[in-house]
Amino acid sequence: MKKTGTLTTAIFCMAFAGTSVAQMSVEDQIEARQAAYQFMSWNMGKIKAQAIEGDVEFNAKQIMAAANAIAATANSGLGALFSPDSTLDKADNTRLKPEFFEQPEKAREVGGNFVREANKLQEVAASGDKAAIAKQFAALGKSCKACHDNFRDD
Ligand code: HEC
Repeated sequence: MKKTGTLTTAIFCMAFAGTSVAQMSVEDQIEARQAAYQFMSWNMGKIKAQAIEGDVEFNAKQIMAAANAIAATANSGLGALFSPDSTLDKADNTRLKPEFFEQPEKAREVGGNFVREANKLQEVAASGDKAAIAKQFAALGKSCKACHDNFRDD
């Protein structure tokens, strides 16, 4: 029993080590990317409530935590969760359009803009300047939408 447990642990660790993301199943890629977007969306919602709509009291620390979470997710290598077999014409439960792989330059451009705006939001959030945070929040939101408009099905 004990031996099996150790072996299972070893295999588990190997599966999550380094570059083995390429071995992820299409189903796992889809689930993980949807979860990543949901997580960023949740954090965007916190910033929106405090810095834009004002229905939650402004709290610079919480905004910074949310911006850090978004930037960390954006910089985590999300590209590994996209494979040509994981588009909506080939896989279930996804809205990723095949255009993502047919227009690699556009995909790189919107992806790059998104990471840049996420990093900038992290910087601005650290300043605690509410107006600047609201402005950068809008810029990041625009970069999310640019990808959705091009590569996410309605
Ligand atoms: C590089 C392109 C790209 C960027 C940038 C991007 N998204 Fe998305 N988003 C997608 C795609 C593609 C899907 C559909 C994923 C799927 O169904 O497999 C998606 C799905 C989602 C979903 C639904 C997840 C679910 O459960 O199905 C939410 C919410 C979302 N995105 C929010 C955001 C937010 C917020 C940002 C910016 C902070 C963002 N996205 C940036 C491409 C992008």
